[in-house]
Amino acid sequence: MDIRQAFLDYFASKGHTIYESAPLVPDDPTLLFTNAGMVPFKNIFTGEVPAPNPPRGTSCQTCIRAGGKHNDLENVGHTARHHTFFEMLGNFSFGDYFKEEAIAYAWEFVTGILELPVEKLWVTVHESDDEAAQIWAKHIAPERILRMGDKDNFWQMGDTGPCGPCSEIFYDQGAEHFNGPEDYLGGDGDRFLEIWNLVFMQYERDKAGNLTPLPKPSIDTGMGLERVVAVKEGKFSNYDTELFMPIIRGVEELVGRPYVYEKGASYRVIADHLRSTTFLLAQGVNFSNEGRGYVLRRILRRAVRHGYMLGLREPFMFGLVDVLVDIMGGHYTYLVEKKETVKQMMQLEEERFFATIAAGIELFEKELAHTDKLFSGAVAFKLYDTYGFPLDLTQDMLREKGLEVDIGEFERLMQAQRERAKAAWKGSGDAKVEGDFKALLEACGKNLFVGYDNLTAESKVLALLNESFARVKCLEPGQKGWVMLDITPFYAESGGQAGDVGVLRETLSGETLARVVDTKRFFEMNLSEIEAVEKMCENDLVEAAVDTARHEIAKHHSATHLLHSALREILGSHVAQAGSLVESDRLRFDFSHPGAMTSEEIAAVEAWVNDKIERGIAGEVEEMDIESAKAKGAMALFGEKYGKKVRVVSFGEKSIELCGGTHVHNTAEIGMFLITKESGVSAGVRRIEAVCGHAAYERVKKMRETLAHIATELKAKDPLQGIEKLQQQVKELKQSLKEAQKSRKSDLKIGKIGDVTVVVDEVEGGDIKTMIDDLKNGHDKVAVMLFQKRGEKVLIAAGQKNTPVKAGAWVKEIAPILGGGGGGRDDFAQAGGKKPEAIEEAKAAAMTYLEKTIGQ
Ligand code: ALA
Repeated sequence: MDIRQAFLDYFASKGHTIYESAPLVPDDPTLLFTNAGMVPFKNIFTGEVPAPNPPRGTSCQTCIRAGGKHNDLENVGHTARHHTFFEMLGNFSFGDYFKEEAIAYAWEFVTGILELPVEKLWVTVHESDDEAAQIWAKHIAPERILRMGDKDNFWQMGDTGPCGPCSEIFYDQGAEHFNGPEDYLGGDGDRFLEIWNLVFMQYERDKAGNLTPLPKPSIDTGMGLERVVAVKEGKFSNYDTELFMPIIRGVEELVGRPYVYEKGASYRVIADHLRSTTFLLAQGVNFSNEGRGYVLRRILRRAVRHGYMLGLREPFMFGLVDVLVDIMGGHYTYLVEKKETVKQMMQLEEERFFATIAAGIELFEKELAHTDKLFSGAVAFKLYDTYGFPLDLTQDMLREKGLEVDIGEFERLMQAQRERAKAAWKGSGDAKVEGDFKALLEACGKNLFVGYDNLTAESKVLALLNESFARVKCLEPGQKGWVMLDITPFYAESGGQAGDVGVLRETLSGETLARVVDTKRFFEMNLSEIEAVEKMCENDLVEAAVDTARHEIAKHHSATHLLHSALREILGSHVAQAGSLVESDRLRFDFSHPGAMTSEEIAAVEAWVNDKIERGIAGEVEEMDIESAKAKGAMALFGEKYGKKVRVVSFGEKSIELCGGTHVHNTAEIGMFLITKESGVSAGVRRIEAVCGHAAYERVKKMRETLAHIATELKAKDPLQGIEKLQQQVKELKQSLKEAQKSRKSDLKIGKIGDVTVVVDEVEGGDIKTMIDDLKNGHDKVAVMLFQKRGEKVLIAAGQKNTPVKAGAWVKEIAPILGGGGGGRDDFAQAGGKKPEAIEEAKAAAMTYLEKTIGQ
């Protein structure tokens, strides 16, 4: 039975819209990961976004519970049912039906479709929820309905957000299999398996912990797919099912030992972590040292360590991705698409950790040997800082021995490191993001951004802040600060696009009051950073004018969209934006791609973009809901909520993106696009730097000037001609050098002793070894010794052919006269000396030696 499909079909038959699984990374700063099926619908529950029609839906949502409020990381592998990654089947009522129907649907599905035996089922309700208990009593014997407190029967998404009392359905796996002390309903044992949680959403919890009733009571349910599959397959552990066993078999093969459940925690950890890491990587999360990327790193490193315990000594996780894609790729087709990229990124990260894991474990073991209660925080910190062991990994290793880290000491060292990092990092302006600053801004009023369509506006100064963000009535000439206008054409830095610059003028005289040097957004309000030229005060009426640089920014922003499309066209659909910077004279685009681009690929991408520019494609900006944007084929959809209005910017059919930035009206305005650099940022992330518009013109102009300069320097019409001329000159110089050396050779004093040609001489330049070789080639019987001054030193070389002289012995005899030593073979030898002034003496001695040796 395909349980996923059966669930969706059942609720579709009850009028529910089937929603696709939303991304694991939610568009919600209060959450690290999507941890339940309701997350993508949060804003509908709270009433921020109107309910869809029909107001009921169903989904099979991929979830991660590793960090944040719901964190199952520690338990994974040690229980039969905890996972970092799992699929949650859910049905939702957005202010439509409530408890009565929710319970009836759940009961019908569990008993009618899944056909689970009624005698094995139990339910719990919140201790205060008489209504739910009464409804359940219509379906199940009252003695099987239990009441529980907040801990078990009150559910909430995170520290804040929608929440409410809940009711859970349990499946009794039988006392004959589980009879531990915790195996009662509500205990921690595995006998009673919670298979479905029905949440009666009634409240929203705010930061202070207060509960406010939701506009309309709603329903959110969650049934763990893995658990239901286990029950249906008659297995007592989720890990024994077809969802996990093929992976465990894969690990068995690598390790070479059979998997035994009782000793198999490491196998299970690897199987679980393979799922979470693969899904996160496939959805574009990268390994990093902070935030979600760090959770990803922690999960992978934990799996690697379990592999290490099983005896694996090189990257193995990436090899298991194939098995997982075989199991899940049919339903989650992007896994198939992203498989190769995921494997490459995973392998790189595994390699990184394998490089330090052995040394780290050695350090750990050493410290462990003299630890009796608290494991040294300093060593835990060193493991973290030097060997890449996340704290929870060290804690995990200690938990197995019943020990703990000295957290206080670890935290102190961490804090000291943070302070050092902070001291090295100045002036980000981030410190202003404080609650009182928000209140201060709210007290100033609200501003309206009109800059998509207007580059100027008649505005009123709502408020002025000084450089330290304190509110002031006026700014004096020369003072710096911030202005908040009621209507502003200045675009605030966002989505990589730089903030606008420009001027504020007096409305009547046109006199400049202040220069705008940057614009940023703080809590939804645009503030422009200014330098006052004249005295400016609150309530002044001004003309705000955006600098023409904005048009250049728009060109670079539109070019960035075209570049994104070009990369996907040419490199493949695995390319996903990882970062972007758009300024008036350059752009930078980071994207996921496993290796460096070839020069052909770079040229093809550049040509693709320029082709779209030449075609003069009209730009189109539309507001629509996320579903329509999706239907239109918009990119960058991960992380958006259902029902949210988005701004879609398109150039033809190839470039459709969600974007809040400013753009050209027609691609022809971009002018020309030049890639200036391609480089790597981190494993699996590449960076392209490029210029367009006026900056491209400036760059070409500069190249032309450089070339003209080269031509002038070379005294030629153009650089090519100049280079040819230069090459010709080099050729000629080489030739005359050769000739000069030759002529020097012919200057050598050549004598005879019997029939032996003898040469003993000093030469100025040239390679004396070549000269000796030439003489040897030119004569039958020859003995040569040449001396050459090299600054304060003398080089001596000797050679002979067909004579009784031994070159090595000869040099050995003569070199000491020059204060040196040396020797060599019979046919050639050389040495160095330090007394150039003794050359004449040496020459005479060399001659005497020859006469003696040849004359005999
Ligand atoms: N949101 C509820 C849960 O996760 C259904 O249990």
